[in-house]
Amino acid sequence: MAQQKTILRALAGETLPTPPIWMMRQAGRYLPEYRATRAQAGDFLKLCYNSELAAEVTLQPIRRYGFDASILFADILLLPQALGADLWFVTGEGPRLSTINAQADFDRLKPADAVHEKLAPIYETVKILRRELPQETTLIGFAGAPWTVATYMIAGRGTPDQGPAHELKDENPALFQQVIDLLVDGTIEYLSQQIEAGAEVIKLFDSWAGSLKGADFDRYALEPTKRIIAALKSRYPETPIIAFPRGAGERYIGFAEATGADCVAFDDSVTAEWAAANIQADSCVQGNLASSHMVTGGDALVTETQRIVKALSAGPHIFNLGHGITPDADPENVQLMIDTVRASG
Ligand code: CP3
Repeated sequence: MAQQKTILRALAGETLPTPPIWMMRQAGRYLPEYRATRAQAGDFLKLCYNSELAAEVTLQPIRRYGFDASILFADILLLPQALGADLWFVTGEGPRLSTINAQADFDRLKPADAVHEKLAPIYETVKILRRELPQETTLIGFAGAPWTVATYMIAGRGTPDQGPAHELKDENPALFQQVIDLLVDGTIEYLSQQIEAGAEVIKLFDSWAGSLKGADFDRYALEPTKRIIAALKSRYPETPIIAFPRGAGERYIGFAEATGADCVAFDDSVTAEWAAANIQADSCVQGNLASSHMVTGGDALVTETQRIVKALSAGPHIFNLGHGITPDADPENVQLMIDTVRASG
């Protein structure tokens, strides 16, 4: 029975004696076996589009640690690439894309329903994973939320303050809205096919939601997320959705109710005690150990992990980091975190 899976039980609102656990970027550069498979694939993008190898790196942290969930190995920037943007990764620096400054740049992009051709290998990865994952492990599919993806598509790279996206939003709101609308529709297409292929849960990463304030937060973080969730829920009412409006602060409050999300993932800029009082009453929560503990380890890791588990023990909770694990993390600290969570029930 699918509902026996601990992650799905927590997402359905059940308070479990020990929280299920997985970790953002659990397949990644801190693991020697990931680095070896990436070298075999050639580079990061080749790894994403090689279904067999992408499935292999997805499975590596499951074999090593037995996490309760597995997240599809891919990237939020594959969708803009499928929409026709150029995408490449510069080693040690991060992603580069073609930019959007004017209407003509937008007009070169493809319609939302054209994304499947390029993304077919990702759906194949999902199918392989559903066959190969242990039966107790939940498979999470994902996409970036439109605002976060738009920040990369507009600037052509990661930016500390999302400046170029804010500028386009303020100076040419009609063009900016077209970018958001295309991403809403493309994301619905992409996630629908991930679910058709076997994804059991969907997560929307809005990594830069925290830079949207006031009405902008409503318009460009909350509203697009709500539209995507409404479309997915009408097609796949049984598929739970985790929203991660990172850095939302006070705006985490009521986010699940306003968007229809089943769970809100929260970063480490708010405390677990605050989340228990302000978010957990409405929905399952996921979070929020600072990823720096995966580098530093020791007693502080154990104490913080125990504190988070305790603070969120009265309601549905999925244990996770507040953001992705970094390449300099020590794999043994991950084991220590898991052991601490599992000993806490
Ligand atoms: O979490 C997982 O294990 C699943 C796979 C996954 C990746 N990226 C793999 C990846 C997921 C869910 C993402 C999401 C993602 N990608 C986000 C949202 C979450 C977040 O971290 O805020 C964003 C903003 C991106 C875009 C992106 N991809 C950037 C900015 C970078 C470069 C920075 C970095 O960490 O290197 C990437 C590269 C990337 N995506 C790597 C991995 C494992 C590292 C690439 C490598 O192996 O060299």
